[in-house]
Amino acid sequence: MWSSRLLFVLAATGSAVGLGNIWKFPYITGENGGGAFVLVYLICIAAIGIPVMIAEVLMGRAGRQSPINTLRTLVRDSGTSSFWTLIGWMGVLAGFLILSYYAVIAGWAVSYVFRLGGGAFVGADGELSSGIFNDFLANPWEVLLWHSLFMVATIIIVARGVVRGLQVAVRWLMPILLVLLIGLVGYAAVYGDFAAGVAFLFSFDASKLSWAGTLTAMGHAFFTLSLGMGAIMAYGAYLQSNTSISSTVITIGTLDTVVALAAGLAIFPIVFAVEGLAPGEGPGLMFQTLPIAFGNLPGGTVLGALFFLLVSFAAITSAISLTEPALTYLVERYNAKRSRVAISLGSFCWLLGIGTVLSFNTWADAKLFGLTFFEVVDYLSYKVMLPLGGMLIALFAGWVLSKQTVVDQLGFEDGMKWTLWRTGIAFAAPAGIVIVFVYTIYQSFG
Ligand code: PFF
Repeated sequence: MWSSRLLFVLAATGSAVGLGNIWKFPYITGENGGGAFVLVYLICIAAIGIPVMIAEVLMGRAGRQSPINTLRTLVRDSGTSSFWTLIGWMGVLAGFLILSYYAVIAGWAVSYVFRLGGGAFVGADGELSSGIFNDFLANPWEVLLWHSLFMVATIIIVARGVVRGLQVAVRWLMPILLVLLIGLVGYAAVYGDFAAGVAFLFSFDASKLSWAGTLTAMGHAFFTLSLGMGAIMAYGAYLQSNTSISSTVITIGTLDTVVALAAGLAIFPIVFAVEGLAPGEGPGLMFQTLPIAFGNLPGGTVLGALFFLLVSFAAITSAISLTEPALTYLVERYNAKRSRVAISLGSFCWLLGIGTVLSFNTWADAKLFGLTFFEVVDYLSYKVMLPLGGMLIALFAGWVLSKQTVVDQLGFEDGMKWTLWRTGIAFAAPAGIVIVFVYTIYQSFG
């Protein structure tokens, strides 16, 4: 059990804050036109993400096992269909898919620790920065090397049990990351085109809103909060029974959002000030923009290396949680050793990750429905599986679980808080997800 509420907050924040905030949020915001996308994302966090996160934690704490077995227990207690255990199984699969490419991108970040530390970006402009990034990605062996390194590190940490290291990483390193990020926002405000960056992120232009973009924003709300696959449910299983779930979840959601917006505010002013960069740059956006800031800053070599080191740590605390649903289940099911399971799971993900490594070079032209291997895995996980998992979780917590179980966990059963919770979990979340799914499918095929 977590020794305190703080420890759970740290672990869950460690899971939530990661590449999703610093790497993915800015680039998909750039690809989807900015302000309107950001607004939809924020609405999804508040109206869907927070209620689903509360549901995951309360289900985890009510079942106190791996997500799959927690669902089995809750299904048995509510005398309902075993169909709902699908949530657990789908989560295990989603975790696999996400980790397979997450480790590749994290590998990029690790390699940038050395690139920046070695001074490769001193005085860099847009051309140099993009050149370095593209040369790096063009070399599958090098990318594979960093990918492998990150995966091995993840396996070692997961195998040894996570609590201690996680605590240090999140408690001490995460605040430093946030300070650096805010420092970068300061740099962007002085040297970048801050007004353009802010306008891009926050000015609402309804004409830029599409259903496909809305699905991306919704999928990302799940991704960034680590929802829809049982990761937070797995952590909830260790939460002490007297901790208030709702206020804890709101703290985590707020922290996560602050980090994402700070990353956006650091990156976009640079994009608009530097020649040759565009918001829709794609997955390379963070890697092409931030090193320019560090390359032109006194002490930027050390600060830049430190920044990417901290990003790598943020990635590892998320990667750990991606393995948790599968890991805890296999340990329970086969009474297996944690280390054995960690090695098998990790190797499998590593192998699958090679597809993503090659998506940016050798296999760049191999496409399925117009998508590279990386894009297919990414699409399936965060635009299909996480929202689907989230919807099933919302329906289960809103309509299947007995009111008593829910009330026992939440600690309130009437008043404003209860109304908000009921509205979110039973209506807003499932309806929102269904509407976005239906319209996106209708638009793609209609
Ligand atoms: N929330 C993590 C991020 O934003 O980087 C990614 C993630 C971790 C997604 C764990 C899902 C998950 F279960």
